[in-house]
Amino acid sequence: MNRRHFLRLTGAAIAASAGLNACAPPRVRTRSDGRPLANATRRADQPIRVACIGVGGRGLESMNEMLAECVGGARPEFIVIAAVCDVDELALERAAMTHSTARRFRDYRQLFREIHDGSIEVDAVMVSTPDHTHALATALALTAGLPVYCEKPLTHTIAQARAIAQLAQLSQVPTQMGNQIHAGDNYRTVVELIRSGAIGTVTSADGWDGRAWCCGALTPGARAPETLDWNLWQGPVAATNYIEGITPANWRGYWNYGNGTLGDMACHILDLPFWALDLSAHENLVAEVHASGPPVDAVGCPAWTEISWAMKSARSVPGSDPLVFRWFDGGKISPTAQELSAKDGQEYVKRFNMLIQGSKGFLFSNYGEYVILPRALGAEIQRPSPTLSRPSGHHREWIDAVRLWTMDAPDACAMTSSNFAYAARLTELVLSGATAFRAQTPVTYDFDRGLFVGAGTSEAMPFLSEPARDGWQLPALRNG
Ligand SMILES: NC(=O)c1ccc[n+]([C@@H]2O[C@H](COP(=O)([O-])OP(=O)(O)OC[C@H]3O[C@@H](n4cnc5c(N)ncnc54)[C@H](O)[C@@H]3O)[C@@H](O)[C@H]2O)c1
Repeated sequence: MNRRHFLRLTGAAIAASAGLNACAPPRVRTRSDGRPLANATRRADQPIRVACIGVGGRGLESMNEMLAECVGGARPEFIVIAAVCDVDELALERAAMTHSTARRFRDYRQLFREIHDGSIEVDAVMVSTPDHTHALATALALTAGLPVYCEKPLTHTIAQARAIAQLAQLSQVPTQMGNQIHAGDNYRTVVELIRSGAIGTVTSADGWDGRAWCCGALTPGARAPETLDWNLWQGPVAATNYIEGITPANWRGYWNYGNGTLGDMACHILDLPFWALDLSAHENLVAEVHASGPPVDAVGCPAWTEISWAMKSARSVPGSDPLVFRWFDGGKISPTAQELSAKDGQEYVKRFNMLIQGSKGFLFSNYGEYVILPRALGAEIQRPSPTLSRPSGHHREWIDAVRLWTMDAPDACAMTSSNFAYAARLTELVLSGATAFRAQTPVTYDFDRGLFVGAGTSEAMPFLSEPARDGWQLPALRNG
């Protein structure tokens, strides 16, 4: 499918395309004048030219992780950083110190304009900006036919997650969300253990994180740092005066840009049971979501939350029905984890951030290790033979998929395990929790339809999507 064809798809065609593979070998993608896009002309033995958008905190770290994971491959030189883009001059300068040949951009929309007019050749894009600017950067990459690695959470709203999943399915390029623990041996072993029935039928999963990204407040009169383009930083969100201390990182405590601790951490922690129980692929999945926390503030995220999702399905979910996920942050802890810690005189709560409960026992996990309880059960369980691959890193899994995809390997896109079909569903789960909190009433989220249904719908719907300023809307799919 070439790009012109792709952009003309109608809503009906999008629905009809639901049966497409998540990815297919690259076709010759064309500019509006019919000439091929740069990446369509890259030879398989040339390095992959990556554009990195957002190269401050995580962006710089992630770019370096990607490079480190790829050294030691068959061809250590198979990546080159072709462009760095950041709205803060300091971040740009720092990134350019180690990548002096990379073109520098401040506005990612300009980067994509130049990709389209052939002024720069790029084969793949990494997005590590704050959450509220993920969706447009990712959509522009997908509509240019470029593979994308985007940080977690995939998007800032549920509607954006659905739109990105659709674009990814249509563009058929390798995609990966940046929940990098997904690639580690511990998560893969736990997934294999749960799927092998090690703790029996799963009834619930509790995740927690002690952080409190919260309580963002406006600070009239504050001035943006001189190196920062505050207008560009705000992107699609209605312009406001600079907020003291919001950059770097503290935007997570503001609803306009982040989704608190839940938005920051749940795509890492709830990823484990969500993956183990294969919930991304589950049809007819509906979650009844309850949330509690301090009184809702219109600007700042809460100091703590407790959220539960009771998941039911027309076809029974792989665990019990309903299968319950719970989330605790800002110092709140799973009572079951606390009871088990007290009973065994162990600091399980401090050591781990996830507890999966099954009909035969419990599994505590963190990013690097797990423990099965009761200990007698743990001792008798054999580690199942691996059914999942063990990539040398999450970025590497994506880069390998990009390389094979360019070589027309038919299954290349199936290689990325946190691809946008998976990642969008996980992000929807997380954001439906934030919605239940903000709506101040229990809500029911229908994963197939991407909508809230039943009681609480009118309170929840305002949080499903958000308006975007002129020039920052997601690309529309034209009729005709
Ligand atoms: N996977 C992980 O372990 C992990 C860890 C930290 C952060 N993250 C994610 O990474 C993203 C960035 O978080 P952070 O902590 O680095 O934030 P940050 O505020 O520290 O850095 C963001 C960078 O992006 C730049 N930026 C902002 N808007 C931009 C735009 N429109 N175009 C280009 N650059 C822009 C900023 O100037 C800054 O350099 C978030 O989505 C966050 O959730 C992931």
